[in-house]
Amino acid sequence: MKQPLLKMQHVEISYAGKPVVHDVSLQMQPGEILGIVGESGSGKSTLIKSAMGLLGKNGAVTKGDIFYKSLNVLDAKGEDLRKMRGPEMGMIFQNTSASLCPIRSIEDQLLESVLQHEKVSREEVKTRALELFDKMRLKDGERILKSYPFELSGGMNQRVGIMMAMILHPDLLFADEPTSALDVTVQAQVIREMVQMRELFGTGIAIVTHNIGVVEFMADKVAVMYQGKLVEYGPKEQVIYHPKEAYTRKLIGAVLRIRRG
Ligand SMILES: Nc1ncnc2c1ncn2[C@@H]1O[C@H](COP(=O)(O)OP(=O)(O)O)[C@@H](O)[C@H]1O
Ligand SMILES: [Mg+2]
Repeated sequence: MKQPLLKMQHVEISYAGKPVVHDVSLQMQPGEILGIVGESGSGKSTLIKSAMGLLGKNGAVTKGDIFYKSLNVLDAKGEDLRKMRGPEMGMIFQNTSASLCPIRSIEDQLLESVLQHEKVSREEVKTRALELFDKMRLKDGERILKSYPFELSGGMNQRVGIMMAMILHPDLLFADEPTSALDVTVQAQVIREMVQMRELFGTGIAIVTHNIGVVEFMADKVAVMYQGKLVEYGPKEQVIYHPKEAYTRKLIGAVLRIRRG
């Protein structure tokens, strides 16, 4: 078997000394898509932040181990992780517009993020960006690059966020509710682009979502969180169509009921 992309072993995570995530173990293989579901406050964001070393001042992994490939994430110095963010681990959040600088063009921000990690010319980055936009069938690449975030729709900003992650070809992408703030019509596009990222670059993706349809469409495996615990974890076919846990059945049932209504 190949070396896992991400391995969590009996992970406990605490804020200010109080555990909020308990005894989570999971593994992602290269190129795998993991869907993480569960109600608000169940620890989904905390879990993915821990793997990126982004828990913040009062957060810490208090038990267990996390490995990214062969790197022990918990032993890594902040600097090691900062270097890995981008070329190794990419991320997309619910609202890319908020994480972009409002007074700088998309082009400047894209350039900066690439030049932080690679010694290449401005022109080369631009060419690569336009090629990527083209591959993603994003029309009007030149115009998008010249735009400021406020000039683009929420959906377009989100797609730009994906491009910014994609241009560095990371091996692992964390996506925390990347479509929750989007209109239904744009949601599908964003999801398709993430799947394409896996197809083009072999990127493994851990995606937090409330949308079981998204999980059905893209995930290989599903992790169900409830009150800080991983209550069910396995291949999508098993977790979605043959859930073992009553909680998973309730969660899936609730979503389907809303969809039908
Ligand atoms: N920075 C923080 N400081 C203290 N508690 C936090 C912090 N972030 C999250 N929590 C708490 O940790 C638990 C899990 O939160 P979170 O990971 O954001 O859940 P989810 O993403 O599933 O909605 C919640 O009880 C939340 O209130
Ligand atoms: Mg969250």
